[in-house]
Amino acid sequence: MMKAATSAPGKVILFGEHFVVYDRPAIVSAIHLRARIEAWIHDQPGVWIGSRRLVNHPASRAIEYVFEKAGFTSGVTLKISSSIPSSVGLGSSASIAVASAGTTSLITLGRIDEELVKLAAGEGEKIIHFNPSGIDTSIALYGGGGLYTRSRGFTHIEIPLKKILIIDTGKTRKTGEMVKRVKEFMEKNKERFDKILKREEELIEEALDAFRSLDLERLGRLMLENQSLLREVGVSSLEIEEAVKIALDAGAYGAKLTGAGGGGCVICLADEDRIEGISKIISNRFKVYLTELSADGLREEKI
Ligand code: PMV
Repeated sequence: MMKAATSAPGKVILFGEHFVVYDRPAIVSAIHLRARIEAWIHDQPGVWIGSRRLVNHPASRAIEYVFEKAGFTSGVTLKISSSIPSSVGLGSSASIAVASAGTTSLITLGRIDEELVKLAAGEGEKIIHFNPSGIDTSIALYGGGGLYTRSRGFTHIEIPLKKILIIDTGKTRKTGEMVKRVKEFMEKNKERFDKILKREEELIEEALDAFRSLDLERLGRLMLENQSLLREVGVSSLEIEEAVKIALDAGAYGAKLTGAGGGGCVICLADEDRIEGISKIISNRFKVYLTELSADGLREEKI
């Protein structure tokens, strides 16, 4: 193929970020915000956006990986369009890496090779993340909802929630730095960290159970407990705490940071018939996205 396009979704981690780096399970869902990558071949080697050569970027690294495996020596020009805000915990770079690998898999092999895309996007993520668990690239590739563990990979699960409210604190941060912060906490507080990991594992089991019975009140309480564990390991922030408080005061069942924290986004759980009203109240202070869950994973798009 001379030209192709794919798109991949952003994500919210509902439970378990950071602890997933230490091989504990996390619950994640794709959201209806997407990144689209269109690419076309030319003779000039390398990855280009207009006249600018893209180097050391998740997209270019993912594409170079696909090219190496496919023995492809030409270059490509990309057009990136994304509705996922970057550096706020919604998986923007992972979806760009996955869609970049997906589009070049179509160009070089004539099909989307999922295994190749997963490896290529993982290489792309390493450029900006410190020790990525792989959760972001897995959900961007497979879509829907899932339980992810580093050693066991991704398993689809049904997430019986239609919508989630995402509060953007507007403060950007680097995932790698936040992951390092947790590592420092672990090194200084080994025994406590082991206890936190154990509690987090139980909390995930309880959350899966609460999803099955659609017990929103219980889910909300579990979210708040997850938030307090994240606060303890040092990845909350004043903005996050303020967003959680505003959400609870507005009538949400629970709220917690999502993704790496330190700013970024907070997710907020509320009754379906109250969620729009709650969203309005929060929007007096923060930018909010009311988005649907369980979106499609990587898919081919028309050019
Ligand atoms: O990069 P973010 O903000 O979408 O967060 C990634 C999730 C972490 O658990 C913090 C890191 C990881 O690799 O799993």
